[in-house]
Amino acid sequence: MTIPDAVKKKYKKLSGIVRDANQKYFIENEPELTDSEYDNIFHQIQKLEKKYPELNDDNSLTNTVGSKVANNFKKIEHRTPLLSLNNAHTKEDVTAFHNRVLKLLDFPSDSKVRYCAEYKFDGLAVSLIYQNGKLYQGATRGDGYIGEDITRNLNQIDSIPKKIKHDDLPKWLEIRGEVFMHKEDFFSLNRYQEKRGLKPFANPRNAAAGSVRQLDPDVTANRKLAFYAYSLLTYEKKNQFSHHSEKLKFMKEIGFPVSPNCRVVDKISCLFEFYNRTSSAREKMQYEIDGVVYKVDKLEYQEKIGGIGRAPRYAIAHKFPPVWETTKVRSIEIQVGRTGALTPVAILDPIKIGGVTVSKATLHNKVELERKDVRVGDFVEIRRAGDVIPEIVKVLLQKRQTNVNKYKFPEKCPVCSSKVEGEEGENILRCIGAISCSAQQSGMFTHFVSRKALNIEGIGNRLIDQLIKEKLIVRFDDLFSLSVEKLQKLDRVGSKSAENIVDAIERSKQTTFPKFIFSLGIRNVGEGTAKLLTQHFGSLENLMGASYCEYKKIHDIGPTVAKNLINFFADPTNVNTINRLISKGVTWSKNETNKTKLHKKKVVFTGSLPNISRDSAKDIWENKGGVVLNSVSSKVDYLVSGENTGNKLLLAKKLGVNIINEKEFFELINDA
Ligand code: IVH
Repeated sequence: MTIPDAVKKKYKKLSGIVRDANQKYFIENEPELTDSEYDNIFHQIQKLEKKYPELNDDNSLTNTVGSKVANNFKKIEHRTPLLSLNNAHTKEDVTAFHNRVLKLLDFPSDSKVRYCAEYKFDGLAVSLIYQNGKLYQGATRGDGYIGEDITRNLNQIDSIPKKIKHDDLPKWLEIRGEVFMHKEDFFSLNRYQEKRGLKPFANPRNAAAGSVRQLDPDVTANRKLAFYAYSLLTYEKKNQFSHHSEKLKFMKEIGFPVSPNCRVVDKISCLFEFYNRTSSAREKMQYEIDGVVYKVDKLEYQEKIGGIGRAPRYAIAHKFPPVWETTKVRSIEIQVGRTGALTPVAILDPIKIGGVTVSKATLHNKVELERKDVRVGDFVEIRRAGDVIPEIVKVLLQKRQTNVNKYKFPEKCPVCSSKVEGEEGENILRCIGAISCSAQQSGMFTHFVSRKALNIEGIGNRLIDQLIKEKLIVRFDDLFSLSVEKLQKLDRVGSKSAENIVDAIERSKQTTFPKFIFSLGIRNVGEGTAKLLTQHFGSLENLMGASYCEYKKIHDIGPTVAKNLINFFADPTNVNTINRLISKGVTWSKNETNKTKLHKKKVVFTGSLPNISRDSAKDIWENKGGVVLNSVSSKVDYLVSGENTGNKLLLAKKLGVNIINEKEFFELINDA
């Protein structure tokens, strides 16, 4: 078939873009295209090749993985090519993959196939060769066939075993896996880079890649890198393994970290379950994963199915929606919150990230805005981390037009024109207008009626603004003087909804002590702190009468919160408001404080938990009224056992302590 010139031209152009992007991504560690932009162009190339197979020659991008090797490392030819994975973005893609597997295996369409589901780590692929159990050579993927010798650098990574021992160890063993950087280490590396005036890395994956491909291994040693193994190859005649999952088990036995929570299943629905569960746990993980991988478990089937080009057909990556995108800043607005804080917010050309449309992103404060130097008209990289508010990562300076001006931060409150002031040591500028600033008033009421506070249903922002404008509410207790008649006079409030609102206000009077404390809007006193205060002081009298030192004595309450509490209760206006709320009938059951099921329950943690850091798990437990101990004794109620446990687990078993895993830990917390 002759290929039309226009098609040839388009193909050449798209290939050029991907080649440049590969160079940027794989060699220079500075991605130019977002994942989805890349995938999109790659997909267009694949489509053209499908229609015009002649386009696909040996140089086709779809036959190669990544980019040519950088020339400063010794080149190494991989004994078995390091392949990539095909991607599935939807459930339909996964089903199509499964049907193809069945077809290639000559199985009837309703047959079951055993799959092994694992995390898809977001780092860089490396190959490790062991000779008689000793790390002999480590290499990057390179173009999939020829990689770079980075043995000296990989030797610096703690989680890569340098020596392995096993009775049944083949002479030559190849382990493949992903080198990556924990999120926390990535942030601190970037802080370090910035402090020294060096360029920060765009994401943990690029930081890992940049760190592993350092010519000076000492630099790698200073960067905290980690490793997870996902495949094992042997070159012996004898077949030691029959299933991929056995290999994972073996790798774990000989000391390699492998995907936590991997599952062997024979139903597609279980694969989706794994995907959903992993997707919701993802944010809490200490490292980034960009999807999950499903692999046909039986090795004999894997061989039969084989692969074409750059990827095997027995495995597929089920990707999470992208969380990085590029868009344009339309304007910058200043929001005034309930504490008077002026928060700059970038208004963006709406963009879909991870299935959610994002049209705004906070710029946090003046200092942060100036540091990032975001300007109206700029193109910016946006990151959405799960449920976390979208954030501008950086400005794409190469796309900045010449006519964009530096943003000038207002010197007065844009709502009430009061002066703005910054507290020492804080980056935040605040409007000093307090209750005379309608924005602050509105924010305070929104907080007061919110679900976690007094939970007054039916009162939204618009109604609050109207009530403030009509001077029907000034202080919190004014809400309890609202009547159906007063409410009905407002725009868009009918008699039925006025009645509902009055009912909801009435119902809200019966609350809990932590919710009451939280509703007051004391600066830095969130839900968790309110619970802590409840546990420690039990009553309003004790709470209001406590000293700075008594507040500070509480674990997790620092000087700032203690100072805020003192200031709040020292202000007669606040004390008056509290008294009025109580006289209007706001009340709570008095022994609420000790009511959680975990009150005083003692827990010990052992091993690493796959989805949550030890510190966060501790906080959660303590916020529920529990106590965290370091050592196991018969007095301990629960031992939370993670991965790589040691003596604590043995002792707990001996003493008959209730041993629970991470999942059961979360169940206890949710139920408390
Ligand atoms: S298996 C035969 N398993 O993702 C298939 N790869 O986008 C070879 N990756 O090149 C890879 N986690 O660098 C496999 N659990 C996992 C993985 C994984 C991350 C990486 C790997 C691969 C890339 C493909």
